[in-house]
Amino acid sequence: MARVLLTARVSGDAADRLGTEHSLVHRAEDSPMPRADLLAAVEGVDALVAMLVDRIDAELLDAAGPQLRVVANVAVGYDNIDVAACRQRGVVVTNTPGVLTDATADLAIALTLMTTRALGSAERRVRTGEPWRWSMTANLGTGLRGKRFGVIGPGAIGLATAQRALAFGTEILLAGRSTPDAGAVEALGATVVDLDELLATADVVSVHCPLTPATRHLVGADQLRAMKPTAHLVNTARGPIVDEAALVAALEAGEIAGAGLDVFEDEPRVHPGLLGRDDVVLLPHIGSATVETRAAMADLAADNVLAVLAGQDPVTPVRG
Ligand code: DGY
Repeated sequence: MARVLLTARVSGDAADRLGTEHSLVHRAEDSPMPRADLLAAVEGVDALVAMLVDRIDAELLDAAGPQLRVVANVAVGYDNIDVAACRQRGVVVTNTPGVLTDATADLAIALTLMTTRALGSAERRVRTGEPWRWSMTANLGTGLRGKRFGVIGPGAIGLATAQRALAFGTEILLAGRSTPDAGAVEALGATVVDLDELLATADVVSVHCPLTPATRHLVGADQLRAMKPTAHLVNTARGPIVDEAALVAALEAGEIAGAGLDVFEDEPRVHPGLLGRDDVVLLPHIGSATVETRAAMADLAADNVLAVLAGQDPVTPVRG
């Protein structure tokens, strides 16, 4: 029987499945595990089921000890994990691709509609009791039909978002470091462009690339300035891909029209310059937050742990 640590409450039956086969310590709380508690709890475990808020670095791996065999992240993004340090110690790293694609793409479209139609500010107006009447000219947003929808990072979630955006009558632009699948490009009738062209011509710029050293502040002051003043930025990937201070400055200067953000540079802190603005929509990192998706993510993490502990190949290993 191996020792497994699960650092937060998860939905579905993942914890039961892990606990039936192994000796499971399940910290059944929603808040991130305090660092000191995590370092203490990880000592001697064979498998760690981690959340994206848990930093898995050399210090933690040393605290765990040489018996640690697998770190299963309950997220598709794994920028919280020092993969090279894990590899050096022979620790397998896994993530949860696929199961959260639809939920995250749905949210990217929700944010697109919220920012382009100014739904956040309209809803606040009603909620705060501000007097309102139907009028031809109040609360106007912009429509999507005939507009260009730009995807930065056309992986699974980016392409699923593009597919949805297509249904709204947009023309799809794709830009990324790797060439998207030719079949997917054709099915979307998409144009593959470089980042500069996407920024200069898209009406909605939706960020879907992973956070890596190369993508940190990929959208900064210059990139925001290059966007159309009528364009909207949507980010459901990772906060640090967008330079938040530069975004505030760009909004203030009218360099772009609005933004829909589900992720922030220093979560859960949000740049104070964003909080009072009516031209931004702010959500608390809920891209994958559906009952079904969160259960599927935990389940896939459990599948990975059970496979590695049984001496089998992990289901969804991180290869990067
Ligand atoms: C992920 O899986 O990386 C998401 O950010 C979780 O919501």
